[in-house]
Amino acid sequence: MNIKRFFTRKTVEDESNPLYLTLREEMRISRENNKIIKRFEKAKARKNVPEEEYLTTMKNPDNVVEFEDLHTFFFTDVGTVKAVNGVSFDVPQGKIVGIVGESGCGKSVTSLSLMQLVQEPQGQIVKGSIRYRASNGKTYEITKMPRNRMLQIRGNDIAMIFQEPMTSLNPVFRIGDQMDEVVLLHVEGATEKSAKARSIEMLKLVGIAMPEKIYDQYPHELSGGMRQRVMIAMALSCDPRLIIADEPTTALDVTIQAQILELLREIKDKINGSIMLITHDLGVIAEMADLVVVMYAGRIIEQGTVREIFHHPKHPYTIGLMRSKPSGKTVDNRLYSIKGQVPNPINMPDHCYFLNRCDRVQPECLGEYPPMFWHSPDHCAACYWSKTGELCDDEGEREKESNDE
Ligand SMILES: Nc1ncnc2c1ncn2[C@@H]1O[C@H](COP(=O)(O)OP(=O)(O)OP(=O)(O)O)[C@@H](O)[C@H]1O
Ligand SMILES: [Mg+2]
Repeated sequence: MNIKRFFTRKTVEDESNPLYLTLREEMRISRENNKIIKRFEKAKARKNVPEEEYLTTMKNPDNVVEFEDLHTFFFTDVGTVKAVNGVSFDVPQGKIVGIVGESGCGKSVTSLSLMQLVQEPQGQIVKGSIRYRASNGKTYEITKMPRNRMLQIRGNDIAMIFQEPMTSLNPVFRIGDQMDEVVLLHVEGATEKSAKARSIEMLKLVGIAMPEKIYDQYPHELSGGMRQRVMIAMALSCDPRLIIADEPTTALDVTIQAQILELLREIKDKINGSIMLITHDLGVIAEMADLVVVMYAGRIIEQGTVREIFHHPKHPYTIGLMRSKPSGKTVDNRLYSIKGQVPNPINMPDHCYFLNRCDRVQPECLGEYPPMFWHSPDHCAACYWSKTGELCDDEGEREKESNDE
């Protein structure tokens, strides 16, 4: 008997606890998962799929990407993790869209779905649509695109700066070899000589002094900030139209962080590209983003322009996030934190997922999951309270609290 099964086996006393699984239940889940996974994998492995099957049109031609009702699930032995559960938002051309939310809310899985890089076979896009307008003028439905076609778009058109710069470089190859490979794979007609010249040019562009020396070094010989710059240089070496930056500055100190962000912004303007910027850091969002998407437990709970989200947040979670920002204004020097925990992703409730942590609960909140309520043409929030509640800005809240004390 394997250890996991031993620990998850249901006993008479915990018969009512849904977190415990009997061996039979586990086998049933595994059988069902296999069936579902086989169906999705079969569809993805099809060869010679006619292009018309995955060509589509954008709802708004100003957008580069449109996510619509995206559902990405992980079919695990203990149940289905609904990592992304009905996400819809747009990335307009030339804009930076910031995605915020606490750890595990589905930020990375959303971006990996766009790259078709969700961990297979357990991770699958089960429903929804991701439309992408490529540089060749065609719009692709990423969820239906065959793997081999996706290889051409990934890297050429869309580049991703991964969340862990420390582990994303291969430790046994020199920086130059890893960078040249990207150029040789994605730039048409590239030779070894032109690839080297391009790699060195990109290293210069990201502000690395002595790029020729770094080109010949191994990843362990560089500092964290330099490795992050190399990752960015690599991502930008094929002039992508869309950059997905997943926590690009988490591993860096604040001065390097500011330089890297400035660099990203400069490059975006130079190539008139768009950026999907994923971060926990509200300061980074305020500094960089045009539009903000706030995620909670696999869903978008609020989205709007950076001004609207920061000055007039409408969802209690966003308000909590704003109040959690360190600020010199708090009276007792204590940081605010949102009490409670996110519900179990395998067993999500039918009502609002934030209900157990919310201090503004309305009778409607006990009913079905709230729809998005629009507050302006760009600003919406999935909350019954803000539908009726007064406008609330975080500074106002903080001041009120200080006066109360
Ligand atoms: N390979 C996997 N197998 C099973 N579950 C997964 C897998 N990858 C992600 N998940 C689950 O999907 C959910 C969303 O994960 P994701 O990595 O998108 O979070 P995140 O918002 O990027 O968090 P962080 O800010 O910590 O990076 C989590 O509940 C996570 O446990
Ligand atoms: Mg992540």
